[in-house]
Amino acid sequence: MTANTAARLLQHYVDNFRRLPWRSPPGAPPLDPYAVWLSEVMLQQTTVATVQPRFERFIARWPTVEALAAEKPEEILSEWAGLGYYARARNLIACARAVAGRGGFPTNAAELGKLPGIGPYTAAAIAAIAFGQRAPAVDTNVQRVIARLNAIREPSRAEIERLFVEMMPTNRPGDFVQAMMDLGATICRPKTPRCVDCPLRQDCAGLASGDPESLPARKVRRARPHKHGIAHWIERGGSVWLVRRPAKGLLGGMAALPGPEWTDAAPPGLDAIGTVRHVFTHFSLDLHLAPRAEPEGEGWWQPLGSLAEAGLPTLYRRAAELALAARQAA
Ligand code: ADE
Repeated sequence: MTANTAARLLQHYVDNFRRLPWRSPPGAPPLDPYAVWLSEVMLQQTTVATVQPRFERFIARWPTVEALAAEKPEEILSEWAGLGYYARARNLIACARAVAGRGGFPTNAAELGKLPGIGPYTAAAIAAIAFGQRAPAVDTNVQRVIARLNAIREPSRAEIERLFVEMMPTNRPGDFVQAMMDLGATICRPKTPRCVDCPLRQDCAGLASGDPESLPARKVRRARPHKHGIAHWIERGGSVWLVRRPAKGLLGGMAALPGPEWTDAAPPGLDAIGTVRHVFTHFSLDLHLAPRAEPEGEGWWQPLGSLAEAGLPTLYRRAAELALAARQAA
């Protein structure tokens, strides 16, 4: 690698950057830190394509961190429905309140990292993109690019961060970080990297080694355990009975169909309408849908005509769709 590596990457970014609603064009002043923070939290485990429209809706509804901090948590969780990883939304609420309380976002990664839901990656991304700090925002894309550039098979996080900061220009670190993200997403892809189109091909030790795709070594994934759950479909007069899940734990605070706790074994002798299979990070789930007559637990009657606005996470939205489809078929 040479001093020109960063310049080549920035020029490539100027010519090819992805226009995204949370980005200012290369060289322009950054958007406000609220927009940068929100986008980085949404992008933590969700694709750019999915985040784009959701980000725009969210910003239109709550244009400032103060507006978000003043909102009822259920409204925010509902707006988050379908994006998954709901601990992010709960932390988002806590973080908005902390930031509004202290009168704005801190401007460096160390202080940002003390806020709820902001880990080392997100802290560095906000510091670089919103505040122009030379902070190494290493996500899996950036890690792959740097591992390949330096032909490192099993890099440590510290090594990647050090190499990243070494490459980073003193001006426009935010553009540089996003240029690396774009390179990882569009050219230096996990499989079949497009090395012929890469602005850094002359700098890349991984390409010179002959097999850049094999870098870095992939981690062996452990098999996911499988669980079972029952969701009760309780319908009356054109409405369905919904409950709110406990604040802590998986899907915490989200609207849901009622039902007992999930178990490792399949429930015996169940007369299910159907089953929804859903994959979470740490296990997969078969959610069996069973009709019931009487409402249970604390909840509310949700009119079927406005089920889409109930804020159901994807698992329960799919279960509801299954129940409605079965009803039509009957
Ligand atoms: N993934 C995480 N942060 C991103 C950003 N700012 N732009 C594009 N993809 C991203």
